[in-house]
Amino acid sequence: TIYDLLGIKDLFVTIAHTGGGMMRAADPCVNSTDQKNNSSDLVTETDKAVEAMVQCRLATTYPNILFFGEETHGGQKLTDEPTFVCDPIDGTINFVHGFPNYAISLALVINKKPVVGVVMKPAYGDYYSAVKGQGAFYTNPMGKSLRLPLRAPAPLSLHKALFSVEWGNQRSGPNWALRTDIFVKLLTSQSEGGAMCRSDRSSGSAALDFCYVAAGQLDFFFEAGVYAWDVAAGWCILEEAGGIVASANPGDWDPMLEGRLYFAVRGAKKEDQRKTVEDLWAMMGER
Ligand code: IPD
Repeated sequence: TIYDLLGIKDLFVTIAHTGGGMMRAADPCVNSTDQKNNSSDLVTETDKAVEAMVQCRLATTYPNILFFGEETHGGQKLTDEPTFVCDPIDGTINFVHGFPNYAISLALVINKKPVVGVVMKPAYGDYYSAVKGQGAFYTNPMGKSLRLPLRAPAPLSLHKALFSVEWGNQRSGPNWALRTDIFVKLLTSQSEGGAMCRSDRSSGSAALDFCYVAAGQLDFFFEAGVYAWDVAAGWCILEEAGGIVASANPGDWDPMLEGRLYFAVRGAKKEDQRKTVEDLWAMMGER
């Protein structure tokens, strides 16, 4: 690529710090919140203000790179052109409720593949970042960077797995029955006299779920129905940490396709990851 990817990562970090400051400064008493499709699908004036700042800053330095953001997209599809992909606040419900697990997620995507990703948690002051081919890192609130994964990638057995599921912001539609069926199976299947998997979490931010899997803090993550801005940065971070994204149905798949079902699985040997995905498919049964 003709772009200085490390420079773009540093620019993302600078911009994310500014966006994070806007989120911390937002007063919940005056911050207006609107519903988009339903009461689980929210946008605040801070989402819009942060996205406007991000778009303006990026366009100043890179006027020729396209911009694809959650709050400004008009239904256009991602193309093969270099594109900045922005979710100004991933975990808007958390943000609205004052629950601190929300993030600003910034990615550069080329040929629909993320090559730079930064996911920052403004309420904590830490962030995850990756550049394709250069590894993934966690930077703590003191500014110290550690290479991901933080936990050694041992083979994963489902009955020791801590995983995450997200409900997304759709509460109907063709995926709904399938999604709830997979949730029930993940949460209630039995094995070896106990639960099939050790326990579950729902962090409220798909971008952060990807990072937690990348770090090895979660073993896998399941969701259906996300958009490119939810996953682009986290996907880059996960892959650079050795993790994979796999379809929740066997077959070819692209995480950037809207509305599809997927698992993000933490880093280990590729054959171990394939085995984990096969175990998950087997648990879900024929569909
Ligand atoms: C949402 C969060 C949530 C996921 C949804 C996303 P938003 O993003 O990532 O965890 O379940 O699918 O839309 O709307 O807060 O930016």
